Order: sequence, then structure tokens, then C-alpha cells
Amino acid sequence: MEVFDSSLSLVKCLSNKPRPLGMVPTMGALHPGHFSLIEKAMEENQTVLISIFINPTQFNDQNDFENYPFQIDSDLEKIKKYGNKTFVYVPKAFDIYGDRVQSKSFDLNGLDVMMEGEKRAGHFQGVATVVSYFLEIFRPNHAYFGEKDFQQLRIIDHITQSMGLKTKIIGCPIVRESDGLAMSSRNSLLTSEERKLAVKLFEGLQFAKSHAKKVPYRALKEMVAAWFDNYDDLALDYFQITDPKTLKEISFDEPLTKGRGFIAAHLGKIRLIDNLDMS
Ligand code: PAJ
Repeated sequence: MEVFDSSLSLVKCLSNKPRPLGMVPTMGALHPGHFSLIEKAMEENQTVLISIFINPTQFNDQNDFENYPFQIDSDLEKIKKYGNKTFVYVPKAFDIYGDRVQSKSFDLNGLDVMMEGEKRAGHFQGVATVVSYFLEIFRPNHAYFGEKDFQQLRIIDHITQSMGLKTKIIGCPIVRESDGLAMSSRNSLLTSEERKLAVKLFEGLQFAKSHAKKVPYRALKEMVAAWFDNYDDLALDYFQITDPKTLKEISFDEPLTKGRGFIAAHLGKIRLIDNLDMS
């Protein structure tokens, strides 16, 4: 494993390494969800590049940015076991943004107007800015992203195509704790009481799935909202079922035939998201 903080020296080093090159972008505080992406990249590529960078432009909430877990030493220790075909990019913001730490402006084809895009202004412009930087400068053959951030995955797919980049975007399934909670770096910030409640996001999605084909979607949304009213310390931000390609909400008047359920909720100061195939 070799660690770089400069993209230019990393590009130079990678230029004589065997291809295909697989890239796994992360913000660190690595957990088994991240390792599932790294392991898939290890299987499918001769060289693997992992980035660890808490990207400031994708945080709409300064408090969330300042409290985001940073544990670079233990992250690097965990990556070491993947051996000498792995390279780690751990830049400072200057390496990517220079003096102007701000997002570029992307046409995201309407994929950013709903859910996380609606609730977190500018978030996906920040994600698109940093991911397009990675893909343009390192030119990986494959890049791996989790379905945990399903809307992000769709948006990255879109910008890769619209910018004519050659990288193949590969989506990977959500890795969950044994009780069903989707793994997330933010889970480490939950109190033990909040941690117990956090599983309700997944249980709420399962509850929705068990009723989705029986009642019109309008009624289902009300049932899900009422189900969450049972948990005072958990504030539902949204629950929606959308077409998995367009991310547009499904028809209100009919029961579901196919779709993906998305949920976001606040537990104290922490906001969590999850999603589940409803078909
Ligand atoms: P981060 O939240 O660190 O996640 C890095 C990658 O790991 C993302 O593709 C995410 O979807 C995936 N991931 C996280 N938890 C997962 C889980 N439980 N199961 C499967 N995959 C999981 O997402 C980001 O960072 C950033 O937005 C980034 C793409 C790096 C751009 O800054």
C-alpha cells in the first residue's frame, strides 16, 4: 500500500501500474460497507485506488462537516492488508480545489431535485465536483459506489455518461448490521439509545414493502408516517417510493408494481438514510 497526498505524483506513479484500475472514493471512517466495495475492486482490477477525503463542498450543514468522523490512522491500518496493489489518495482540499473551495455547476438532469437533493441544497453539486475530478484525473477503468447512497449512484452514472468519461460505474449492494441497520460512518456518532432506534429506518422500509402491493401509494405513505409517529425520538424526514431509474415518485393512486423505497430520518443531531427494493 502506498499513500499519496498529491494527485499529480499519484497519476505519475499509476501510469506504469497494470490496468484495469479500479477506484473506490470514500470519506473515510471505513466500515464493512466500504470494504465490500474495496473487495469487489480487488477482485476485478490489477490496481486499486482508494480515496479518503471529507469533501467540504458536499456538506450543506457546517455542523455535520465539523463532526464528521476522521480516523485516518486506523483507516490506513485497515487498508494495509490489501497489499501492494492498493494506492490511497488522502489529499488536502487545496490539491483538488486550489484556493477556491467551491462546487462547479453540473446539469444533473433533474436527478437532484428530490429527496437528498431537495433536503440538502448543493449536496450533489459538491459530490459531482469531487467525483468528476477523480474520474478525470485518474481515469479509472471501473469506479465502485454503494446502493446505500442510491441517488448519488444514479447521479454519478449520469455525469459519467454526459461528460463522455470512459469509467464504468459499478453499483454495490447495501451492507447491513445484524439487526438490519445500513452501515454508515455516521452510525458511530449515535448514542446507545439512538443506535437502538436507528434500525427503525430499515424496519419502516420493510413495513412499507409488506403493504406496498395492497394499498394505493397515497394510503401507504400515511401508514408509514403513522408508524413512525410511534417513535418520539425519531423524526421522519421523508419516505418515498420512486422509479429506480428516473427517481420520480410513483403514482399516488395505484398500489406499487415496482419501485425503490427511500427514507431519511433524524435521530438527535444525526441524520440517517436508507433504501430498499420494493418489488
Ligand atoms: P462515503 O459515505 O464514505 O461512502 C463511500 C462509498 O461507500 C459510497 O459509494 C457509499 O455508497 C458506500 N457505502 C457506504 N455505506 C455503505 C453500505 N452500508 N453498504 C454499501 N456501500 C456503502 O459517499 C461518499 O462517501 C461520498 O459522497 C463520495 C462518493 C466519496 C464523494 O465525496
